[in-house]
Amino acid sequence: MKVLVTGGAGYIGSHTVVLLIEAGYEVLVFDNFCNASRESIRRVEKIINKPIEVVEGDIRNREDLRAVFEKHKIDAVIHFAGLKAVGESVELPLKYYDNNVNGSAVLCEVMAEYNCKSIIFSSSATVYGDPHTTPILENFPLFATNPYGRSKLMVEEILRDVYVSDNEWKIVLLRYFNPVGAHASGTIGEDPNGIPNNLMPFIAQTAVGKREYLSVFGDDYDTKDGTGVRDYIHVVDLAKGHLNALERLENFSEVMTVNLGAGKGYSVLEMVTAFEKASGKKVPYKIASRRAGDIATCFADPSYAKELLGWEATLGIDEMCRDGWHWQSQNPSGYNI
Ligand code: NAD
Ligand code: WQD
Repeated sequence: MKVLVTGGAGYIGSHTVVLLIEAGYEVLVFDNFCNASRESIRRVEKIINKPIEVVEGDIRNREDLRAVFEKHKIDAVIHFAGLKAVGESVELPLKYYDNNVNGSAVLCEVMAEYNCKSIIFSSSATVYGDPHTTPILENFPLFATNPYGRSKLMVEEILRDVYVSDNEWKIVLLRYFNPVGAHASGTIGEDPNGIPNNLMPFIAQTAVGKREYLSVFGDDYDTKDGTGVRDYIHVVDLAKGHLNALERLENFSEVMTVNLGAGKGYSVLEMVTAFEKASGKKVPYKIASRRAGDIATCFADPSYAKELLGWEATLGIDEMCRDGWHWQSQNPSGYNI
């Protein structure tokens, strides 16, 4: 079975490619490298000890995609390609709608042209907005608080419409909670551009001495210690969820929507403590004001993932911090060696 992985050079994509190849799938990575390095591909090749097929192309470009489908018989697509910086999406909404929404529509159009109708899409817990209660179930109301989130909601809707128009499609929408950590080898991991927006890479860069201190965005939330609570999920567990979805795709007779989270909420300060323990380094922090658009608490009810996909998170906070530290300490400048 040959799987096209859009965005396969990125953080979650690269980890998924490793598992796919280890499980015996044929893989073709399609990426425009707008937020990835060729070095991630070289590292993946080293882990699996064989070359990977990579095509440099843009999901918005029909000809780039057609060239792939002309040359290869693709059975299914795992669609990671997208832009993901929430703040940037507020500044540049049209860039996000073009890349994420238009790009996904073009991808589906070309897939249909070549009769490839199986797709697993990277959605996000951000589609729940500020949930009325936690844990979050898949049938909770959907609401986007920024253009990035709206782009995910729009693609979910587009894929549902595609299914209504043609029931031969097999579609899974995976809503990720907060992916963190890295491959156990410490050779691939998250490599954000510039100052990290997300908590874990910021903590890791502080521990390694690249940042002076962490700003904790608010300590007056209605949570256990006043800091924001999230459902952190090890990226390798998350990658496994895609394999489980792929194995079961053919049995699905409607669009499946599944939370991929560990189902546990940890506060910012708990993450700091866990990272200090795993790394043996101090993570200095200062309390700062709340970040606009943040919510107090977000964690999944992951029981549907277990029921439908036979999947559950197996790696806990200690493994997330251990592997995140392993990656960061071995690659203090990420892929820019
Ligand atoms: P990433 O930026 O590391 O990976 C995305 C990849 O897509 C990059 O390699 C980038 O170069 C590529 N890409 C972007 N636009 C493209 C285009 N037009 N054509 C071809 N390639 C393109 O991000 P990630 O963290 O691995 O996220 C993967 C997916 O999961 C994204 O769709 C993201 O929105 C979604 N997601 C991520 C998180 C998270 O916190 N990391 C949470 C929920 C959902
Ligand atoms: C986690 C917690 C912050 C940085 C974002 C996107 C979401 C999804 C995942 C793609 C919060 C606090 C953070 C810092 C801090 N991405 N924090 N200091 O906001 O849950 O989700 O990434 O789909 O769409 O919004 O993740 O890692 O940014 O923040 O105190 O320097 O850490 O306030 O409580 P978030 P995060």
